Order: sequence, then structure tokens, then C-alpha cells
Amino acid sequence: MTTATVNSIHGGDLHQASREFGFPLDQWMDLSTGIAPWAWPIADIPSHIWHRLPAEQCPLERAAADFYGCDNAAILALPGSQFAIRSLPYLYNLCRVALPARGYFEHEKAWREAGHCCVNYHDTALNHLDREVRTGNVDIVLVVNPNNPTTAVLDRERLLEWADILKQRGGCLIVDEAFMDVDETMSLSRSCPRPGLIVLRSLGKFFGLAGLRVGFLLSDEKVKFWLKKRMGPWAVSGPAQFLGVLALQDAQWHRQQRERIKEVAIMQHSLISSVLEGLNKPEEMRVAKGPLFISVFIASDKAATIFRGLARRGIWLRRFDYPDSQQGCLRFGLVKNIDQRRRLQLGLEDIVGEWL
Ligand SMILES: Cc1ncc(COP(=O)(O)O)c(C=O)c1O
Repeated sequence: MTTATVNSIHGGDLHQASREFGFPLDQWMDLSTGIAPWAWPIADIPSHIWHRLPAEQCPLERAAADFYGCDNAAILALPGSQFAIRSLPYLYNLCRVALPARGYFEHEKAWREAGHCCVNYHDTALNHLDREVRTGNVDIVLVVNPNNPTTAVLDRERLLEWADILKQRGGCLIVDEAFMDVDETMSLSRSCPRPGLIVLRSLGKFFGLAGLRVGFLLSDEKVKFWLKKRMGPWAVSGPAQFLGVLALQDAQWHRQQRERIKEVAIMQHSLISSVLEGLNKPEEMRVAKGPLFISVFIASDKAATIFRGLARRGIWLRRFDYPDSQQGCLRFGLVKNIDQRRRLQLGLEDIVGEWL
């Protein structure tokens, strides 16, 4: 396993995009995040909810337990899963933590800042990590499942086995399932609570409610109690709790959202693959379909040219550069409608045309 420097910018910063490329803020097509382009439609919030301090989080946690298929006792509502990401490193004595070399960088940042020894693994070479877990060379393993931006999905049975092994040595497995809502097949949420296993969920991606700041910790009683105490009272606002319950209970909207996400992801994967295939030999490029984004792994210089070419046309992507590789990644969030699809297609075709 290697250690690597991490990328340190987030998607969705159109101010940065405008500063760099001069397009007015309201004319960007923002494909730089993995947030669904269709948000759950916000309901009216009764005025008493604004007026009072937030009540206990029970209704929100019950709705989440139903949605994630876990025991009610396993769940704690949070002001975004980011709160757990920043806090969990302080629950453990300094130890060895395995984190994805390509993955949501906030995890590694938090563990490093807390002083832990971070080692990276590649989700294309899991046998090595498997050995490290079995030989006790790592105490904590962090998995983003499905991973952002690699799109890798790790198998449930393997992860549960790791959780059991790590638990025996006082460690644990942490699984960030921020992107699991589109297809729950590999989710570990329904296995919670289970000692040695911590799962994080978010209303930011599938529900398109990143601004609401609601996420969940799924864990055993000890971890849940520790985080609850650290969080203190009223951390999740009353309006966020009210809307969160309604969003989690809206089964018809969940069905519609899953269908359109799957349909657009397939279409966009095929569009990007077919346009970019003119530029690259198949072995030099990989176009991967994630739950809420398409990731293109390609030589860093080509990634930079496509990124800048699309930005000059007002299309903002997320670009990842990896210091340990010549290959970079471009992540395309899903388009919202046919007009956006056309704009993306024309932009990509223009760039390929200029190149050839
Ligand atoms: C993989 C992953 N986990 C967690 C988060 C944080 O989500 P939240 O909005 O629940 O804090 C993000 C945000 O981009 C993410 O990409």
C-alpha cells in the first residue's frame, strides 16, 4: 500500500469557475458534483417548526431506519455525514488506517489531521488490503461504497468479514454509503447495528438535498452514544428534521428518482464513451458508470484539455489529478434534461473536432 497526497477542492464551486473562465455565474452548466440533478421537491414548513427549538430526532431516525432497512437502535441523525467524517478519528487511539487512494478526500484529511497513520489502497487491488486486514497490519479500514470517483462497489460479504476481523483487534470497518441509495444491493446498512461496523448515509446525493445538511450514523450503541454526546443538542435543525422525514417516506418519489437516475446514467455513459472513443485507444481510457456520475480515467494532459475546453463552453466538471499516476480523472455529474444533454454532446464533439 502507498501513501498519496489528496485532492483538496470540492465540486460545485461556480465562483471559482467564473473567476477562472469568465462565464457569468448563472450561465454555467454545473456537472461538477455527484448530487442528483433533480432534488426532492421541498414541502411547506409550518411556522411553529421555525419558531421552536428542534424536538428530539426520533421521527427522523425512525424514518431513516425504515428507509435504510436497519434497526431503529442503530441510527443517529447528524448535520450531514461530514460531521461523522470529521469526528470519528477522535474516537480511536492513534492507529493505522487504510483509506482509498482514489476516494472522497475528506476522510483522509480528517484521519491525518487527528494524527493517525494513513495508508492508501486501490480498489482495483483488494487482495493486498485483504492480507493487511487478516495479518493485523491495519486497525481501521475506510471504504466508500460505491466509491467516488472510481465507481467501484465492494462486495457485502467481504466487507462484513473484514468488520468481524477488525473488531476482534479493537478496530472497525467504516463504510461511507453516501452514493448507495440508487441501488441498495451491496449496502451494509441493513446489517446494523453490528460491533465493528460503522455506516454513514447522506440525504445530499440521491435526494439532491446537500444544502439541508442531514446525514446518518449507523453503528452499535457505544459509537452512537459517543457521537451523540460530541454533537450536543439541536444539531439537526427543526426544518431539516421535518423535511427529512417527508423525503425519506416518499416511496413514490424514490421509485421515480431511481428510474430516471438509472436511465440518464446509461445514456450519459454511452454518450461520453462514444464521443471520446475517437480520441483514445480503448486501453488508454476507461469510462465508468457510477450511481450519480460518469468517471473518465484518461491521461492527465488529455483530462486537462477536455476540462478546460468544456469550461470555456460553460460546462463545469470535477477534475482529479493523482500525484502517483500519469492518469487523471474527469467526473461528469448527470445532466438534468435534453437541453443539457445536447450542450454536453456539442461541447465534447467540438473539443474532439479541434483535437483531430
Ligand atoms: C462520498 C461522500 N461522502 C460524504 C459526503 C458528505 O456528505 P454530507 O452532505 O452528508 O455531509 C460527500 C460529499 O460530497 C461524499 O462525496
